[in-house]
Amino acid sequence: MDRIRIRGGNRLVGDIPISGAKNAALPLMVASLLTEEPLVLANVPHLADIAQMAEILGLLGVSIEQNGTASSAGAPGRTLTLTAKTIAQTTAPYDLVRKMRASFFVLGPLLARAGHAKVSLPGGCAIGPRPVDFHIQGLEALGARITLEDGYVIAEAPGGLKGGRYRFPHVSVGATENVMMAATLAKGTTVLENAALEPEIADLGACLIAMGAEIEGLGTRTLTIAGKPRLHGARHTVLPDRIETGTYAFAVAAAGGEVELIGARADTVGAIIPLLRSAGVSIGETNRGIKVARNGAHFTGFEVTTEPYPGFPTDLQAQLMALAATANGVSHITETIFENRFMHVPELTRLGAKIHVDGQSATVTGVQALHGAPVMATDLRASVGLVIAGLVAEGETIVSRIYHLDRGFEHIEEKLGRCGADIVRLKD
Ligand code: UD1
Repeated sequence: MDRIRIRGGNRLVGDIPISGAKNAALPLMVASLLTEEPLVLANVPHLADIAQMAEILGLLGVSIEQNGTASSAGAPGRTLTLTAKTIAQTTAPYDLVRKMRASFFVLGPLLARAGHAKVSLPGGCAIGPRPVDFHIQGLEALGARITLEDGYVIAEAPGGLKGGRYRFPHVSVGATENVMMAATLAKGTTVLENAALEPEIADLGACLIAMGAEIEGLGTRTLTIAGKPRLHGARHTVLPDRIETGTYAFAVAAAGGEVELIGARADTVGAIIPLLRSAGVSIGETNRGIKVARNGAHFTGFEVTTEPYPGFPTDLQAQLMALAATANGVSHITETIFENRFMHVPELTRLGAKIHVDGQSATVTGVQALHGAPVMATDLRASVGLVIAGLVAEGETIVSRIYHLDRGFEHIEEKLGRCGADIVRLKD
């Protein structure tokens, strides 16, 4: 298994191109199931999760053509053309779905297009139980009959889905996407209340509208979807990844230096910009993206609670903790979205961080310096938190199990390396 070796202490100076958002690209790829015509997606990142979704969609009958190559950190994202002329099968098996939770998003579109679907209960990062009850209840509100059998969700809507009203009990990104996609092909109008506001929802909504869907309220908590008998092909460009943007912004804040994040969109990063500014880091919009700088002056600690967008994202919590490890003063970080999302804490402690966890809250007392050590990635976002800590730590840090990292961060060692970080991938 590949590992990453980092020799810490270098400042980061230069620019980093921000890739298309993984969490937008995955549901956008699934939207191809809603039409027999080609859906062309530009700026799709080169990631293991994208390849995994392509494999699942291929099994369901989607043909996928790919243009553009992934040769360097500056390469533009791929363009994928996805065509679901016919649905070849309506079962998404355990072996494929268990590897990635987003595979569960095929349930709604398959059901809407084919009238039935059988999808394994999902897997994904080991960051808590992550149920799918809102996905199921939302589809039931559209008239689906759903049973659970041997680890599979079996959904039937023989006469097609019908418009309905559903209020998500808590904000869920995936359930909003799944039910919104299904509703585009239902008979009549669907109203979804307490919908997620994450920018990836609006990106998916814009693509569905380009495919002929009628959706009102994108960017608000209430979505009104007038179902159509069919959707058609379209072309859509995936929005830049706000989690990758925040990750590199935190890396620069931690290591010091000055980096422009090319293509990053300030209007999608929510709480990040005010948070870094209040800690004493310079961050602002440029005509090419976002520039982050910390020259000399140190930064202070953070009081942060993870929340649905526009609050602070759970997907940046591990990275923030790595940054807080060397802040001036004490930080309090509370995780409210996922249980069990502090698995990076023991690994950061190995590097010398002082962290005390009490339930869902962590108190981080900033230390003068971290010290390199071998550490192990436990999930996607935790792994990149360890990379940030390694950039700051004195000496050598080896991060193992980086297959987690490859699920969601494209060319990370090249992107950081071109800004002066001493980071290499060790092939086993
Ligand atoms: C998406 C993101 C993931 C991010 C998360 C929260 C993708 C592919 N993944 O995951 O990177 O960490 O949003 O921002 O976009 N819940 C239920 N029942 C449900 C669905 C969710 O109880 O049916 C709970 C979850 O356990 C969790 C919370 O709702 O506590 C939010 O989860 P959700 O927004 O659904 O996360 P995902 O869509 O899986």
